[in-house]
Amino acid sequence: MSISVSFQKEHKTQPSMIVVLAYEGDEGVSLQPVSGLEASLVSLAKRALEANVQFKGRLGDFISVVTPEGSVAARLGVLGLGKAEALSALRAEEAGGKFYAALSSLGVAGVSLYVGDKLPQPDLTLDMLAASLANGAVLRGYKFERYKAPPKEMLPELKTLEVVCTHPANAKKAYEKLSCVSQGVFQARDLVNMPPNDLYPDAYAKIIKDTLKPLGVEVEIFDEKKLQKMGAGAMLAVGQGSDRPARMVVMRWNGANKKSKDAPLAFVGKGVTFDTGGISLKPGANMDEMKMDMGGSAAVVGLFKALALRKARVDVVGVVGLVENMPSSKAYRPGDIIKAYNGKTIEVLNTDAEGRLILADALHYAKQYNPELVIDLATLTGAAARITDYYGIAMCADKTDTTALKESGERVYERLMEFPMWREFHDAIKSNVADIKNIGGAAGGNITAATFLHHFTDYPWIHLDIAGPSFMTADVDYRLKGGTGVGVRLLYDFIKHTYA
Ligand code: BES
Ligand code: MN
Ligand code: ZN
Repeated sequence: MSISVSFQKEHKTQPSMIVVLAYEGDEGVSLQPVSGLEASLVSLAKRALEANVQFKGRLGDFISVVTPEGSVAARLGVLGLGKAEALSALRAEEAGGKFYAALSSLGVAGVSLYVGDKLPQPDLTLDMLAASLANGAVLRGYKFERYKAPPKEMLPELKTLEVVCTHPANAKKAYEKLSCVSQGVFQARDLVNMPPNDLYPDAYAKIIKDTLKPLGVEVEIFDEKKLQKMGAGAMLAVGQGSDRPARMVVMRWNGANKKSKDAPLAFVGKGVTFDTGGISLKPGANMDEMKMDMGGSAAVVGLFKALALRKARVDVVGVVGLVENMPSSKAYRPGDIIKAYNGKTIEVLNTDAEGRLILADALHYAKQYNPELVIDLATLTGAAARITDYYGIAMCADKTDTTALKESGERVYERLMEFPMWREFHDAIKSNVADIKNIGGAAGGNITAATFLHHFTDYPWIHLDIAGPSFMTADVDYRLKGGTGVGVRLLYDFIKHTYA
């Protein structure tokens, strides 16, 4: 169940808890001043701080006490925001996320969060602080429970979050903008979390259409016949081992309303609904996790949802290649030579290096829009997955400026690590019998994959390997395991700052 968020000048409902904010400082903890709060609660908050010496006001630190009889709320809480001068929208979201986690372990159903009236620092408005705290809580409150009977015994969940602030209408406006992006993140997480028996190429294509068309996105689905006619031989080869045929889905959001077919931006996503490895079969342990191998495409779909909900004034194209990589008597084999959509021939040496084959055709399809920039997202390599657990995205870009995208990564905590595409990596995918082969040497697997893609991208292009952060097998900090929706916030922020 999702949380209902509202913004008020004073608390309206009877909350089970009232929460005030506090900062960490050199001279100890300081409470954020709140003019609208009863004096008795303010002094109770001070007493709570005196009694809880372990509470230092660090970001996300939380304490709560029971209030005396007759008080408006049964509990009073104090949420730490860290050092006032270090506070940012991102850090406020993090505090909101940790706040949600703390409330879930207490079983609080309704809370009034008092933002107070002192600006923590000049770069962050109180409206933005209010909106970001709420957005962080909502992002953390995501659940994927549609396949599960509700548990019989469980603590109440947070249902209503009332944010009490000085300019509720402005805070609400700021929140609604953030919320559109969060809806996109949830869309991507849902897709990644869906089981591969229900999310296969055709079903996935229909979900994309059903979700995005009502929002004004043009959605076109190419079936295998159409792909055959086009000559998308690389994608088709990967899909041919499965009884569930491949699909390519093209999305268009024309928010800038230019009449031409050109689009400044294109996003391409890998959508392997399940990756067994094919004939080059993967080992059995944890193979279930390969339901997440469509995380790149999920990010593209989530991004389009966010852009459409926000009615963003930008023209954007999205292309996703959807296939299931299965071993069967119809499957493509190591040794096969296939012909990609752009005419290049590829010697397949490992059928588990399938993502780059799908992307080859999807990337070439994007060319017709004369894009200023193409960004692809893919859970492409084990090498990228092993790089970091901290939401790090492995990036390669050939002669394309990545500064703005890196800045977005810092702002939304989807940080980018850039790898060089040295000549030696290009040499590594030369084939004896075809134009290129689909694997290189053992070193720098994420870079070899990128150099492979380079053969299909004769335009400005940035490659994002999200194999690491797309799906988490354990909670990290306050972030939840499962599909993360990584990429949506990154690209939305990038578009907002660079193109909109
Ligand atoms: N989908 C995998 C990459 C992956 C691994 C994603 C772990 C998430 C977590 C991809 O299709 C793959 O199998 N890559 C191989 C390529 C190799 C055979 C050249 C890899 O990186 O091991
Ligand atoms: Mn694979
Ligand atoms: Zn894969």
